[in-house]
Amino acid sequence: MKSEKIPQNLPRHIAFIMDGNGRWAKKRFLPRKAGHREGVKTMRRIVDECFKIGIPYLTVYAFSTENKNRPQDEVKALFNLMEEYFTEFLNELLEKNICVRTMGDTSYFPETLRNIIADAIEKSASCTGGTLNIALNYGSRDEILRAVNVAVKNGAVLDSDAFSRLLYTSDLPDPDLVVRTGGESRLSNFMLYQCAYSELFFTKTLWPDFNKTLLYEILNDYSARERRFGKVKP
Ligand code: FPP
Repeated sequence: MKSEKIPQNLPRHIAFIMDGNGRWAKKRFLPRKAGHREGVKTMRRIVDECFKIGIPYLTVYAFSTENKNRPQDEVKALFNLMEEYFTEFLNELLEKNICVRTMGDTSYFPETLRNIIADAIEKSASCTGGTLNIALNYGSRDEILRAVNVAVKNGAVLDSDAFSRLLYTSDLPDPDLVVRTGGESRLSNFMLYQCAYSELFFTKTLWPDFNKTLLYEILNDYSARERRFGKVKP
């Protein structure tokens, strides 16, 4: 029996790379969009659980800068799911006092979707029970290049803190833990600057199958790790 004990040393910020929706659907002879729909259900359950046990910051990689090059019907299905998510679950997020925000360039998203996202961000801005950061059309290289261009334009020589303030995550702590489902062991252009000292956890489990038991297994594994941030043990 696996332990669902909450470890003492919880990460403050977990970032999830939610991979494997397509394969989950394929295994069941379903269209890929059915996998994404199941992925949203998993996301809701896991986000809920993390906030419930007191992890204050979560980031989820929902749509990368590369994802827009997928077949247009899949991109459209993802946009529809985002629209549903931000409309149907806004009240739930507000009831739970969760502040929702996004990172990435959503300027080319359909206008209705942009308005729905903006509304959710505005209505939840003063919530203090946890922060859910959703990466939408996000790419880390794109984020870093934007910051560099701002710095160059201002003629500034920046230290690490000043540079961090130019990123989408300027007001978030760096992720302590990055969890990637779906069996690949890579970061795929995700928070490359912010994850310099993050602990990484890769699992073969496909995102729609990710559950509370595995979450606790990962949290217990994280809790037992020794983080030295490049220093020696005191
Ligand atoms: C990767 O699986 C997953 C994605 C590209 C999208 C993840 C999005 C969601 C879980 C839901 C959308 C989010 C919101 C906010 C509603 P994949 O399609 O690459 O899977 P595969 O590697 O098995 O093909």
